[in-house]
Amino acid sequence: MQPAEPPAPADLVASLTARLAAAEQAIMARDKTIQALVAREKDRTAKRHSTMEENAALQQIVASKTLELEAQNRKLEQTTNALRETSALLEMLLKNTPAYIYFKDDHSRFVRFSQSLLKASGQVDAAQVIGKTDFDFFVESHARETFLDEQHILRTGEPLVGKTEKMQYLDGRIQWMLTTKMPWKNKDGEIIGTAGISSDLTAIKTTEAELETAHKQLVDASRQAGMAEVATSVLHNVGNVLNSVNVSATLVTDQVRRSKVASVGKLAVLLEQHRDDLAGYLTNDPKGQIIPAYLARLAEELAKEQTSIMTELDGLQNNIDHIKDIVAMQQSYAKTSGVVQTVALTDLIEDALRMNTGSFIRHDIEIVRDYQSKPTVSLDKNKVLQTLVNLVRNAQHACDESGRADKQVIIKITSTESLATITLTDNGIGIPVENLTRIFAHGFTTRKYGHGFGLHSSALAAKEIGGSLTARSDGPGHGATFILSLPVKPEAHSS
Ligand SMILES: Nc1ncnc2c1ncn2[C@@H]1O[C@H](COP(=O)(O)OP(=O)(O)O)[C@@H](O)[C@H]1O
Ligand SMILES: [Mg+2]
Repeated sequence: MQPAEPPAPADLVASLTARLAAAEQAIMARDKTIQALVAREKDRTAKRHSTMEENAALQQIVASKTLELEAQNRKLEQTTNALRETSALLEMLLKNTPAYIYFKDDHSRFVRFSQSLLKASGQVDAAQVIGKTDFDFFVESHARETFLDEQHILRTGEPLVGKTEKMQYLDGRIQWMLTTKMPWKNKDGEIIGTAGISSDLTAIKTTEAELETAHKQLVDASRQAGMAEVATSVLHNVGNVLNSVNVSATLVTDQVRRSKVASVGKLAVLLEQHRDDLAGYLTNDPKGQIIPAYLARLAEELAKEQTSIMTELDGLQNNIDHIKDIVAMQQSYAKTSGVVQTVALTDLIEDALRMNTGSFIRHDIEIVRDYQSKPTVSLDKNKVLQTLVNLVRNAQHACDESGRADKQVIIKITSTESLATITLTDNGIGIPVENLTRIFAHGFTTRKYGHGFGLHSSALAAKEIGGSLTARSDGPGHGATFILSLPVKPEAHSS
């Protein structure tokens, strides 16, 4: 190759300058490209970094969300299980409970109910009951009552607790129920109906009625026993008085039989025989001579006889009057039985004592009257008399059994404005502490010929007139005290 002709220096400079400039240009362009590339690469790297971070964060979120969902799933499963169990429980309950359980809508129409209710309705298929109301099964008065009850619950949200209901079915059956009803709410708490549960009380009600009848009979029996006790007391006393009457009558009869009156007759015959010479007979005949003196003695004897018979007859009259009194008193009490009367309490006590006077005298029991107050009371005096007679007779028995010489019964009256209290204290055999309440039980007695009705009927009578009867004793051998409290005014509930 031929070497080229060297260029002129000026041209050379110019060309070099140009080439230099071009080279510079090229370098600058490359630099720019490189910078752009570097920048792009930088940018990419930065972007790549942030994406990685985002990814990591995302992964974390996904992981925690997954955990949360799993937990929620577990919870849901648990809840579902619990719900299933509850539902099974409800089903079991509805199927087996003898109580009637029911859910009704806001028109009191049956929605769900227990098998027992279906059976009681007389239907076999639940569909025949769903949508029906009590009006389809019960008499109108009962259906209306339950309807109003349910409307009240729907309106107010207040439950109905423990209502005793008499359910009368259309076919005439009657059932007594104990019913509780409450509002039935949906999940938002809105009342959408009522739920109720009713248990059958019929058996209890029947037993209750039987018990009440038995109790009434017992009360009646007791009342009669109480009256019988008074009657016994009266008879006992009349019997005692009759004994005295008998003794007096026998005495009088004997006296009359042995009377000297017969001698008067004999004397008359004698005088009649000597009618023609009566004066000579009386003065000269030895038999006739003693007649005047005999007559004087006879007159004396007859006067004595008369006095004695009169005394006996007086006693007899007294005793008969006493019998009449006691019988009349008993009749007056029996007649006014159940009538509230206003009487002086002391009169009642005296009457009760009079009915027992004979016994007290015979058994030598001293009666001490400690009337600290003399209240007037308004009550059924027959009941009080019964009670008093019982208490007095019991005190007399207790004194008798003690065998002590100084037998005594103290009767005390005290009173406040509203209450009169009679306290009867005897010094008889006393009462062991374990018997202090038992003595009031029907039929409890420790006496050989006792019946155990007295105190039971007395306590009952006291209660009926709004009072009370209690007993106190410091034990055997220490006597007993009976406290009868009575209202001064008749109580509202007294009969
Ligand atoms: N004043 C009393 N002192 C001791 N015991 C008494 C007294 N009054 C009652 N009792 C006891 O209470 C029992 C029941 O009395 P009550 O009901 O009158 O029946 P009854 O007189 O027929 O036994 C008596 O048997 C006796 O044990
Ligand atoms: Mg008695």
